[in-house]
Amino acid sequence: MLRRLHHEQPASFEFTPANLAWAQAQMTKFPVGRQASAIIPLLFRAQEQEGWLSKPAIETVADMLGMPYIRALEVATFYFMFQLAPVGSVAHIQICGTTSCMICGAEDLMKVCREKIAPHPYELSADGKFSWEEVECLGACANAPMAQIGKDYFEDLTEAGLASLIDTMAAGGTPKAGSETGRFSSEPVSGLTSCTETAGEKEAHNGSVARAVGIGDSIKRIDGTEVPLSAPWQMSGQHAPIGIMGTRPMSAVQQVAAEKAAKAAAPAPAAAPVAAPVAEAEEAPVESQGTKPAGLAAPRDGQADDLKKIEGIGPVLEAKLNEWGVFHFDQIAAWGPEEVAFADTNVPRFKGRCTRDKWVAQAKIIVEEGMERFLERAKTNDY
Ligand code: FES
Repeated sequence: MLRRLHHEQPASFEFTPANLAWAQAQMTKFPVGRQASAIIPLLFRAQEQEGWLSKPAIETVADMLGMPYIRALEVATFYFMFQLAPVGSVAHIQICGTTSCMICGAEDLMKVCREKIAPHPYELSADGKFSWEEVECLGACANAPMAQIGKDYFEDLTEAGLASLIDTMAAGGTPKAGSETGRFSSEPVSGLTSCTETAGEKEAHNGSVARAVGIGDSIKRIDGTEVPLSAPWQMSGQHAPIGIMGTRPMSAVQQVAAEKAAKAAAPAPAAAPVAAPVAEAEEAPVESQGTKPAGLAAPRDGQADDLKKIEGIGPVLEAKLNEWGVFHFDQIAAWGPEEVAFADTNVPRFKGRCTRDKWVAQAKIIVEEGMERFLERAKTNDY
């Protein structure tokens, strides 16, 4: 399937303050200079904020990570989890159409979607509230057929059950996640055949459903405001606990637990800026080496080249290069080891990036073979 940006795009994108703080905290999980590794979570958070991934959102994320736009676009267009067109304002329903679900009635579920939402996947319903698509196996095969809506699984679905789910959501309700037939998890449909002695002691819902029920946000969009910035993984740069790393806002109980853990793990004030590790890295002293490149007083003909076309140069580094009087590809293409050493030790936040990302080799290709050929070679990092 051809995956392209939607023909209609918003003028701009901006993370909400809380989502921005969350995104900055994600970036601190990776070594200095490797912030591009955070692209998947950042793109996903942008999608969760807006419902789909627009061109301005992709570019914003690329700018934050110091990546050429084309690299971020490649990621966004490769993974089917990224929605490149507007989805339903209330819910985007993902029906699993792989073997188990197909055998157990996925076609019937898609028929409901065609009738109640739109004839084709990715089409908005007439009121703009819903959209749907068929997806590959979502790993709940024992509870087939199933659908994912927002962050939750709806399992053992029937035609009537799915139709009712859609009606509930259309009326502003939040359907209960989990098995339509009341299965606790993936035990046999006919009932437990082992561990029967503990059958009466189980909770009302399995962990995943209990979380969804507690929060009541199966279809709610995330703006990040519910996630306290003092969450322990954000303060320490550690990975988030499973189930919390996702974007679901934490319940009151989870928040209290997170704050307690934060106090135990780090005595620093809870309001410490989440981006502190990056800021420290920026200021870390590195001995300047090499020779500063010869610069120009201004771009030739008043028109600077878009140095961000070079992989590894984002807006921050481009501004730094311009500050040195470097505005054109041919200037970088002419650098020798001395200028490279200077760039490696004098760019903010990204020490060694000039060598690692082969700026000079990239610039030479642009100058000698043209931009079209460069972009072709960039697809396979052929520098
Ligand atoms: Fe549908 Fe695996 S086949 S979840």
